[in-house]
Amino acid sequence: MLYFISLISLIVYIALKLDNASSLPMNDSFSIYADYRKKIDEILRQSITRKLPATLYDPLNYVLSGGGKRIRPMMVIFACEAAGGSFDDAVNASVALEMLHNFTLVHDDIMDNAETRRSEPTVHTKWNENVAILVGDQLIGLAYIYLLKTNSGNIKEITSAFTEGIIEVCEGQSFDKEYEERKDVGIDEYMMMIRKKTAKMLETSAAVGALIGGGDENFVSNVKEFALNTGLAFQIQDDLLDIIADEEEFGKKTGGDIIEGKKTYLLLKAFESAENVADKELIKKIIDNNGLKDATESDINKVRDVYVRSGAIESARKEIERFTKLAEDCLEQLPANIGRERLKWLTEMLMNRSI
Ligand code: IPE
Ligand code: IPE
Ligand code: MG
Ligand code: MG
Ligand code: MG
Repeated sequence: MLYFISLISLIVYIALKLDNASSLPMNDSFSIYADYRKKIDEILRQSITRKLPATLYDPLNYVLSGGGKRIRPMMVIFACEAAGGSFDDAVNASVALEMLHNFTLVHDDIMDNAETRRSEPTVHTKWNENVAILVGDQLIGLAYIYLLKTNSGNIKEITSAFTEGIIEVCEGQSFDKEYEERKDVGIDEYMMMIRKKTAKMLETSAAVGALIGGGDENFVSNVKEFALNTGLAFQIQDDLLDIIADEEEFGKKTGGDIIEGKKTYLLLKAFESAENVADKELIKKIIDNNGLKDATESDINKVRDVYVRSGAIESARKEIERFTKLAEDCLEQLPANIGRERLKWLTEMLMNRSI
């Protein structure tokens, strides 16, 4: 509940702030977001009609009714609108992208030993790992059912883009897990990994939306580039929020990445920039031990202090702004219309988020 209230108040705050800073009717983008989100939530809630086996359908309902920002569906719909299409044209595909995203989350939580998501127990914690594996698998199937409801002459290309998205997310997740054990991961490798595990799904969303809307090759390529840059900013910010967000508001465990030994932007940057010997030692200890498995709150606080002192947090913020700006530059290549304004609002809202 607190998670939901925080999400709404954050968005209202950002919408008001952006409205002051721009001549565009940003509050309209927020209302549209709220309206689309409600409709998507409703379709997701009603998407499961079967009841048995309960060990499959109960957790599936739990996942699909558990909230979330619904960023990928927005990317699909806004990109479709920017290309000249409508909400109705894109809504089924947008639901498909959200289902696919939820598949990645359920499996990601097993891989990351995460106990909490969206402020509730993860599926493998509330049920068990076998249940979570099947729920994830089923979500891929359901996602295809919704994708194929799309009425478009481009359905083959759309389905190819969607499938390519799945393949790259799996590659990205594999790199993410490999890097937990590697001691010499560079920031360039990290960027490649987040491009695959996170940005690709946003890029796919934009591509699918633009294809449904009938965008030409140049349009599709620009909107994909926009979404890719938005996705890079999004994952660096996710890494940042892992350590600076309010745990209750963010809905995920603070410091989870440190415990698991994730090669995040912050860890790599702090290792590169920490000047003080003790600070460098602490980061090295996380790398050498593949994480801080029994970390207490005070251990996590110490790592946060190193991230601040070494400038890693500041540097992450700059990168988030840089990629958001790059994303906005790509939008300039698209014809000016309401869909483009909504895409701009989306990327700025994400940059200012705290959940
Ligand atoms: C979390 O995605 C996984 C990442 C790619 C970082 P979101 O932050 O979009 O999660 P929800 O759907 O809003 O919960
Ligand atoms: C998630 O990265 C990427 C995917 C789910 C594919 P994270 O592991 O950082 O996402 P959270 O923080 O658990 O949401
Ligand atoms: Mg992960
Ligand atoms: Mg995770
Ligand atoms: Mg994360």
